Amino acid sequence: MRSIKSNELRKMWLDFYREKGHTIISSASLIPENDPTVLFTTAGMHPLVPYLLGQKHPGGTRLADVQKCVRTGDIDEVGDNSHLTFFEMLGNWSLGDYFKKEQIAWSYEFLTSEKYLGIDPEKLSVTVFAGDEDCPRDEESASYWEKAGIPRNRIFFLPKEHNWWGPAGTTGPCGPDTEMFVDTGIPACSSECSPACSCGKYLEVWNDVFMQYNKNAEGKYEPLAQKNVDTGMGLERTIKTAQGVDSVYSTDVFLPIIAKIEELTGKKYGSDEATTKAIRVVADHIRTAVMIIGDERGVTCSNVDQGYILRRLLRRAVRYIKVLGGEKGLLSKVAEVIIASYKDVYSELEVNRDKIIGEIDAEEERFEKTLNAGIRKFEGIRTHQVGDTISGKTAFNLFETYGFPIEMTIELASESGLKVDMDGYNAAYKEHQAKSQAGAEQKFKCGLADSSEKTVKLHSATHLLHAALKKVLNDPNVSQKGSNITEERLRFDFNFPRPLTAEELKEVEQSVNDAISANVKITCEEMTLDEAKKAGAEAHFESRYGEKVKVYTMGEYSKEVCGGPHAESTGELGHFRIVKEQSSSAGIRRIKAVLE
Ligand code: ALA
Repeated sequence: MRSIKSNELRKMWLDFYREKGHTIISSASLIPENDPTVLFTTAGMHPLVPYLLGQKHPGGTRLADVQKCVRTGDIDEVGDNSHLTFFEMLGNWSLGDYFKKEQIAWSYEFLTSEKYLGIDPEKLSVTVFAGDEDCPRDEESASYWEKAGIPRNRIFFLPKEHNWWGPAGTTGPCGPDTEMFVDTGIPACSSECSPACSCGKYLEVWNDVFMQYNKNAEGKYEPLAQKNVDTGMGLERTIKTAQGVDSVYSTDVFLPIIAKIEELTGKKYGSDEATTKAIRVVADHIRTAVMIIGDERGVTCSNVDQGYILRRLLRRAVRYIKVLGGEKGLLSKVAEVIIASYKDVYSELEVNRDKIIGEIDAEEERFEKTLNAGIRKFEGIRTHQVGDTISGKTAFNLFETYGFPIEMTIELASESGLKVDMDGYNAAYKEHQAKSQAGAEQKFKCGLADSSEKTVKLHSATHLLHAALKKVLNDPNVSQKGSNITEERLRFDFNFPRPLTAEELKEVEQSVNDAISANVKITCEEMTLDEAKKAGAEAHFESRYGEKVKVYTMGEYSKEVCGGPHAESTGELGHFRIVKEQSSSAGIRRIKAVLE
C-alpha cells in the first residue's frame, strides 16, 4: 500500500468519484438539523436520509463527499490506539442510480490501483451478507468480487450482526453490506479465523452498503422503490494503514497535535502507558471540541444535548492535561494547532477561531473553580466509602456542586475499584430535571430524521418564524442558531442580545399567522448557493464545491436554503402559537412554539 497523507487521500477520493460522474457535496454540519433523535452526525449517510428514501437531491443521483462525524458512544475508550470521538468519513452514494456491479468494481479499483491506494490484492479479503428470512444470501456481490479478482477463499459470508447496516435499533433505510479488509500480517488465530474475528489479523477499511430496505416502525423490512448505494471509509483508519503505523495517533493527522502537547507539558508520548493515554485523550477531545464549537452550527457548553457532550470532552481534557502536569490555558494552545491544520479543509474553523478559543478557555476556567475542591471531595468519599458502590446522591452532588460529569465520577471511581449506583444517580438527576430544564444526555442514540406530517408542518412554520423574527426585530443579523423539531413542537434558537418583549412576541405570532392565512404555495427551486444568496435566500452554510441547493419560497414571506421536506402551502399549517421564549446560552434566545 502506498504511504498516503490525509490531504492526499481526501483529494484522491473526490477526484476518483468526480471522474465517475459524481457531484461533490460539502460536509454537512456536525449538528443535525430538524432531527431530535440524534445529537451529532454519525455517518456520511445521516444528512442524506431524505434522499435515500426517495426525495430528489439537487446534486443528482451520484454524490460523494468527506463528512465530519462525531461518535461519542465510547468516549471512555479513547486513549487506546484506535478509538476516536471525531473522524472524517469518505463517502459516495448512488440514489437509485448504479448498484452492486459498479460499486464493487470501483471499490476494487480504488483499493488496488497504484494510482489510488495501491493495496496488494493478495492482502484483501471481503465479507458479504449470508442471508436470512429478511433478505437473501448475497451471491451477486460475491460473484462481482470474484470477477474483480478476489478468490472464493477470501470471500466470507456473514450474518446480519456483521454484514447489515442501518442506524442501530431504529427505523430508516438499511440493507446488506459488503466490507473490505486488509491482512495485517498477524497470523490467523485459529482455523476458524475470519474478518468476523477481533484477533487483529483483518483490518476493515471500507464498507459498501446496498440500501434497498426501509425498516418500518414495526421492525419489518420493506423494499425501497429506489435501490441505493451508501459507502463509508474512515479517513484516519485508512491513513493509519497506509502510513504503516500502529495507531491513528502516529499519523500525519495527529503528529502536530501531539508534538504541541509534548512541547507544552514537557512529557514524551510513548514514555509510559499513563502519559501516552493522557496525551491521546487530550489530543482527541480537543480536536472534537474544536470541530463542535467551530462548526457552522456550532454549540457551546451546557448541561443538555450537544453542549453536555462538549462539556464532558473538555472537562475530561482538563483532567488529563493535569495528569501531564499542564498548567491552565494550555488546551486552547492545542486548539490553535488543530485549527491551523484543518482550516484549509474546514474554513469555518478559521471563521470561528475566537469563539473556539474563547469557549475552551471559559470552560476550563469554569471547571477550574470547582475541580480541585471536587477532587478533594472525591478523595474524602473514597476514603470513607463503605462497600464498593458510591451512592447516586453523592454522584449527583459531585455533578451539581463540583461540575463533575457523571462519566468522570464513574471513571475516577473505577480507578479505585469502586462503582456508582446509576439508578440512584438517575433518580436524583430526574428529580432535579423535573425542577429545571429538560435534560437530554440519555437521548444519545442513533436515529433518523422524522418526516411525519406534523413535523413537516412545524418545519415550514420554523421558516415563517425565522422570517418573522427578522422583520419584527428589524435586525438583519438575527439568524438561526439551532432548530429541533418533534411531533409536538418546534424549537428555534437565534442570536439576539435580550429577551423579547410581550409585544414583540405577539407581533411575531401575528406575522406568522398572517403568512398562514394568506395560504401561499410553498415552492422549491434548485440553484447554486451563490445564485440562492443573490436571490435573497436565507442560507446558514457555505458551499465548498459550488453544488446545487434547494431554495424553498413561501410567497413574499420567506425564502430559505433548506433540504426540505415542507408542506405544500402555508394554509395547511393551522394556528401558530409561541409557548415559551427564554435564554439558550450567552447571546442566544430560544423560542418554543406549537401549531394548533
Ligand atoms: N453508512 C455506512 C457506515 O457508516 C457506510 O459504515
